Amino acid sequence: MSKSFHTPSGIYLLSHSVGCLPYKAKQALDEKYLKPWENLGGNAWDSWLEQIEEFKTALAMLLGSAAESFCPQTNVSSALTKILSSFTISKDKNSIAYSAHDFPSTGFVISQLKKTGYQLNTLSKDQQITDLDEWDRLLSPQTKAVFITHVSSDVSAMAPVKKIIEIAKQHQIITIVDIAQSAGIIPISLDEWDSDFVIGSSVKWLCGGPGAAFLWVNPNNQSQWEPLDVGWFSHQAPFEFDINNFKYAKSANRFWGGTPSIAPFVTATTGIKELLTFGIDKSHKHNRRLTQKIIDYITDTGLALETPLTAEQRGGTVSIRFQEIEKIKKVLNDNRVFYDVRRNNTFRFSPHIYNSENEITTLCDLIQATTR
Ligand SMILES: Cc1ncc(COP(=O)(O)O)c(C=O)c1O
Repeated sequence: MSKSFHTPSGIYLLSHSVGCLPYKAKQALDEKYLKPWENLGGNAWDSWLEQIEEFKTALAMLLGSAAESFCPQTNVSSALTKILSSFTISKDKNSIAYSAHDFPSTGFVISQLKKTGYQLNTLSKDQQITDLDEWDRLLSPQTKAVFITHVSSDVSAMAPVKKIIEIAKQHQIITIVDIAQSAGIIPISLDEWDSDFVIGSSVKWLCGGPGAAFLWVNPNNQSQWEPLDVGWFSHQAPFEFDINNFKYAKSANRFWGGTPSIAPFVTATTGIKELLTFGIDKSHKHNRRLTQKIIDYITDTGLALETPLTAEQRGGTVSIRFQEIEKIKKVLNDNRVFYDVRRNNTFRFSPHIYNSENEITTLCDLIQATTR
């Protein structure tokens, strides 16, 4: 268990939503963002941009790839908009595949493509993202791109990403993976996946706060993408200042845009570094132990587990459907348990590296007490 985070008083199980603040964040913000501004004014840019490099380096270590394959972004939806804007539609490749289990915001982005002539094909709510055969049936030579959520936000189901990518490659389908709900709790090797794009944000399990999202672009085919949404930081020479000469940056930075924000990336780097210090395999094992404990407890209660029972098909969250929700809400609120509720009265609980086994025992006792 890590003691490097400010955890609100109570039992904090909301890391699928907002991970806790690292102790080192305040000092880092002061030293690496505010102090250079205070002392150097506009000349702080060199040192600010170094912080972006630190963010990319820390991410690269955590996610098994090279720092230059990452481009900072504001949030996942905007990163996805930029990726989709780099595609050209053709008569024989005009459909986009995704799933009804994706986070709605990404679905909203994808559905805009109907305006440009794309057809949309989705796995329905009744189909499981864990089922490779469903993906196999969904993808066809007509599919231009497939959007895969690694771990779903509603029930924490984990898609077999590597195998879906392998199928996609057989049909020359562009692959985009959303790791917003897995980065920081599930070990990931981006180089092994060999997707075209991967997007995520720091706000959840990475414990980095909002505003520090990222876009990973496969280094083997970076130069083929020409996003419409650009800015001077997407240019090969941002400080050239020639309005008639835009050339896409040779790296993932072609997806960057205008003047970047800095503070969110300083904060986020402290979160990622704490996770690296703790060890991603260790945090995954810790989460597995605590989530399994919740699942074992509720097995005898008759409550519905919405998260897949098979450990290999699960992310870091346990989703449980309750019947008498006012009763359980009151008990959890009275005991300062931090949780949230999604559709179908599904409650989400997400143990991270700052949660102890005792806290989970208390949660289980509270749940049991309301089901007697
Ligand atoms: C799977 C997934 N993708 C994306 C997001 C967030 O997207 P954005 O950064 O655009 O708000 C979430 C937030 O809950 C999520 O769970």
